[in-house]
Amino acid sequence: MKGVILAGGTGSRLMPLTKAVNKHLLPVGPYPMIYWSIMKLEEAGIKDILLITQKEYIPQFHKLLENGEELGVSITYQVQPAASGISDALSYAKRFTGRDPFVLLLGDNIFEDSLKPYTERFAQQGKGAKVLLKEVDDPERFGIAEIDEKNKRIKSIIEKPEQPPTSLCVTGIYMYDAEVFSYIDQISPSKRGELEITDVNNLYIEHSELTYDVLKGWWVDAGTHESLCLAGSLAQQAIQKGQEH
Ligand code: G1P
Repeated sequence: MKGVILAGGTGSRLMPLTKAVNKHLLPVGPYPMIYWSIMKLEEAGIKDILLITQKEYIPQFHKLLENGEELGVSITYQVQPAASGISDALSYAKRFTGRDPFVLLLGDNIFEDSLKPYTERFAQQGKGAKVLLKEVDDPERFGIAEIDEKNKRIKSIIEKPEQPPTSLCVTGIYMYDAEVFSYIDQISPSKRGELEITDVNNLYIEHSELTYDVLKGWWVDAGTHESLCLAGSLAQQAIQKGQEH
């Protein structure tokens, strides 16, 4: 399985930290944010990684990561011409992933769980897609899943709902088969002018090919000042815990 990490965007909610520096290079504990996604993929045995960002940021990432060897992975860089949404960014991964299934990580999602059990279950699934959910206190900020409890299926996903049906957030950890690229071709920009990943996931639901699991450990979308601080302290604690064992 291959890995794709999205590390673009303007980081507007983190100004002025992101005025001169890409969000994914800001510190989270002792490492730049981007390290966490790479380490999670590496730990799950996924070493062939595509990093997608805007052209202006490529030199910064390249200086830090080069070809990925120091972190035990192989990194390929891909430009997304403009920050036009997650699905738009993902469309540029088509050549890299080919017919292979892959994991997509939003580089600002910092989390505790190992990806391994989830990628193994997805590999057994054989086709379709899988999302990982997490209970949150502020569901208005995220893509939220409506669940059919009886059949253990997601009925629909609503992006930033005003009246959230549940507090189960669809995290930025996704697994897809190659069909994802034909679904991206079918969607149109949302009200915020972006090609939404939620619209792609809803197409998988229509085809009854979206499964889910719920994360056990902590998960943070480190896109705001408050959540960036929280991610830093949780990540630091996780490292200390790891050193004690
Ligand atoms: C994006 C997705 C949303 C998801 C979130 C997870 O939101 O659109 O569905 O819940 O990532 O971090 P955005 O960061 O673009 O607001």
